[in-house]
Amino acid sequence: MVLGIETSCDETAAAVVDQDFHVHSSVVESSIDEHRAFGGVVPELAGRAHVATIGPVVRRALDEAGLNATDPAIEGIAVTSGPGLIGSLLVGLSAAKGYSLAWGVPFVGVNHLEGHLFAPLLEASDLEWPFMTLLVSGGHSLIVLQREAGAHEVLGETIDDAAGEAYDKIARWLGLGYPGGPEIDHLAQEGTAGTLKLPVSMTGDDFDLSFSGLKTAVVRATQHSDVALADVAASFQAAVAEQLLRKLRRALEHHPVKGLALAGGVAANSALRAGVVELAAEFALVPHLPTMAMCTDNAAMIAAAGLYRLRASGPSPMDLSANPNWQLADVS
Ligand code: KG4
Ligand code: ZN
Repeated sequence: MVLGIETSCDETAAAVVDQDFHVHSSVVESSIDEHRAFGGVVPELAGRAHVATIGPVVRRALDEAGLNATDPAIEGIAVTSGPGLIGSLLVGLSAAKGYSLAWGVPFVGVNHLEGHLFAPLLEASDLEWPFMTLLVSGGHSLIVLQREAGAHEVLGETIDDAAGEAYDKIARWLGLGYPGGPEIDHLAQEGTAGTLKLPVSMTGDDFDLSFSGLKTAVVRATQHSDVALADVAASFQAAVAEQLLRKLRRALEHHPVKGLALAGGVAANSALRAGVVELAAEFALVPHLPTMAMCTDNAAMIAAAGLYRLRASGPSPMDLSANPNWQLADVS
């Protein structure tokens, strides 16, 4: 069994997962309420919240897994060491090193994005390799070909904003709350897509994504118009989903796979989920839509990636640093 620790952004999370990817516990505490007033995550506040919360969260994860908190029967610790907010990452990393020394077990630094890639494996026992994953969150948007556990190729990624970031910024522009994704998604249900004529970005011959042009287009189109807010939300939501699904279709045309998975916070989006189900049917694939708990940041996915990393590359050294800009590298 491995203890996972995640503190890359505003969630303080700990989980216990075994080698069959059975989740024995998964505890997530978020400091989001402290950030709402600022319209985005304030790094300093997030870091301080992690310091106060990490100990109790780890203890709860051990308790809920039925493990002794002072001498738990775990064989390793997996911790997110990047990418993310440096002050937040360091809290989790320091905690992992402390537990590693105290319990005499190895620890391994895990790439947060690789963690997201393992999330579908925790929920879908019928998942067949290879499969295509659209990973869309507040910080990242990638299309990844997953060949087998731990072996993946990044086919395309955003050249500017992440999909969730675009949602959050447009929500702020429209005067909606933070985080903006759920707010716009909710409002979009009452609006008509296409009311606002928006460009479809990135129609090129690659798998890359871009949301900055769309964001500017929404701002321009709403500056001096009285289009209903719900119609703006529906039009924006449709444009984001169309771009993502278009590029995903291209990826599926070029790389035959057996499954199609969604990951990351934006995987909660209703238009995207519906579109992925349709796309999967078109290509006769099994769609893997994560539960809401598995869409957002959690430590079970970090523990799963760590189980793999400990086996494949061994433990990390005690002087491992956090890497706030750690890119997801291709692994064959
Ligand atoms: O994966 P996540 O919890 O944190 C990051 O690693 O970024 O993703 C958070 C992002 C936020 O930008 C939020 O607005 C977006 O996911 N999000 C959504 C929805 N729910 C959350 N975006 C669109 N539609 C949603 N229903
Ligand atoms: Zn994430």
